[in-house]
Amino acid sequence: MIIAIDGPAGAGKSTVAKLLAEKLKFLYIDTGAMYRALTLKVLETNTDIANTAKIIELAANSSISLSNNPDGTLKVLLDGREVTSDIRQPRITQFVSEIAKIKEVREVMVELQRKLGSQGNAVLDGRDIGTVVFPGAEKKFYIDAQFKERVRRRHKESKELGQRLAFEDVSADLANRDKIDSERAVAPLKQADDAVYVDTTRLNIEEVVSKVLGFING
Ligand code: DC
Repeated sequence: MIIAIDGPAGAGKSTVAKLLAEKLKFLYIDTGAMYRALTLKVLETNTDIANTAKIIELAANSSISLSNNPDGTLKVLLDGREVTSDIRQPRITQFVSEIAKIKEVREVMVELQRKLGSQGNAVLDGRDIGTVVFPGAEKKFYIDAQFKERVRRRHKESKELGQRLAFEDVSADLANRDKIDSERAVAPLKQADDAVYVDTTRLNIEEVVSKVLGFING
């Protein structure tokens, strides 16, 4: 079974997806981590963010692999090197949407996501899982929350990662990514017609998970 979880940044998607996968003993696939890993490579190779041809070449020639640790957390490898925490740096977050809007980059990532997902039961979280990657997914959710609450969560998360970011900067970054992710020509962020909409603004994580589980089992 494929469970597709889409929505904007900070809505709680990855936390819900990870907990769901753990409870159901499914594979957890964080598709945003793939775009982040490629962004890391772009920055590490000093590739100009406007050099689309070079970025496409990097996408085609990089090995990005995701696996689940025994405790359910995600492990991300870029060309065999662990980059799990590197891809959460603010400089990656700042540029990832620009990289993710390139059509040929998406083709490479989508193929990888389909390959991983087809190995068995999986929960995938992203922006286009229910619309493009697995339009036939058995269960689809669109996880959302009000903008201010999403900024609050991302700001709290960044603090927990030891990053000292101003609330206003987190807010500007989220607004920028929301815009690029939802307005891009290829696979923009949008709710699939058959996805269940969940507003998490006033729900804690346990409440979201039990709501989603209710729809899966119901
Ligand atoms: O979920 P995240 O914040 O780690 O995702 C990082 C970026 O990657 C996000 O701003 C848009 C892009 N992305 C995408 O375009 N498609 C996906 N399926 C997942 C992420």
